[in-house]
Amino acid sequence: MLLHIPSVFTKTEVSQIRQALDVGVWVNGAATAGPMAAQAKHNQQFSTESSEYPALSQSIVSALERHPLFVSAALPRHILPPMFNRYAVGETYGNHVDNAIQMDGRTGARVRTDVSVTVFLSEPETYEGGELVVQDTYGSHEVKLPAGDAIVYPASSLHRVEPVTSGVRTASFLWVQSLVSDAWRRNMLFELDMNLLKLRGQLGNTPEIVDLAGHYHNLIRQWSDS
Ligand code: NI
Repeated sequence: MLLHIPSVFTKTEVSQIRQALDVGVWVNGAATAGPMAAQAKHNQQFSTESSEYPALSQSIVSALERHPLFVSAALPRHILPPMFNRYAVGETYGNHVDNAIQMDGRTGARVRTDVSVTVFLSEPETYEGGELVVQDTYGSHEVKLPAGDAIVYPASSLHRVEPVTSGVRTASFLWVQSLVSDAWRRNMLFELDMNLLKLRGQLGNTPEIVDLAGHYHNLIRQWSDS
């Protein structure tokens, strides 16, 4: 499932983040990729050593954790520190799969990547190319969202960023270990939660809705990794 999360940030917040990013230090993205991904990765990455980095990274986590759609879709157990990348003209990231396990640099904890998130920080009309292309069992999906919006997709999927042909594409990206590792189960829980929300809005807390909500939570109990 690819899910569009609208308005993670307001336009004002996006421009504050962009201003902070613009004064910081950027490094070659290939330096932080594994040997296979490094061959395909031609972009720039915001230095995690920059003084601006910790606050910027935390602002992404806080905004996502406040967003009910993200929480319901990802069921986050562990959010890895978000990073930032940008693609200038000619830069691209060819087809690849992200590492299944990433280390959280703050704690050394090994984190399984279940869910990938990209938060778009450039307005789509300011650059050409740069689409995120995600391949899943239903085919290939091109994603290019307004600044401040995010896409959530399974970390297991093959994906790429098309070459930028004009302008600059800036984004934040991160991985999440979910309470529920299986993407199909996560998707069912998400749909159940969304329908319960709609039904509650239409009918209030009827005994049947309360009962179904109990089943939703019991399924999370059954399916969340210990
Ligand atoms: Ni990737």
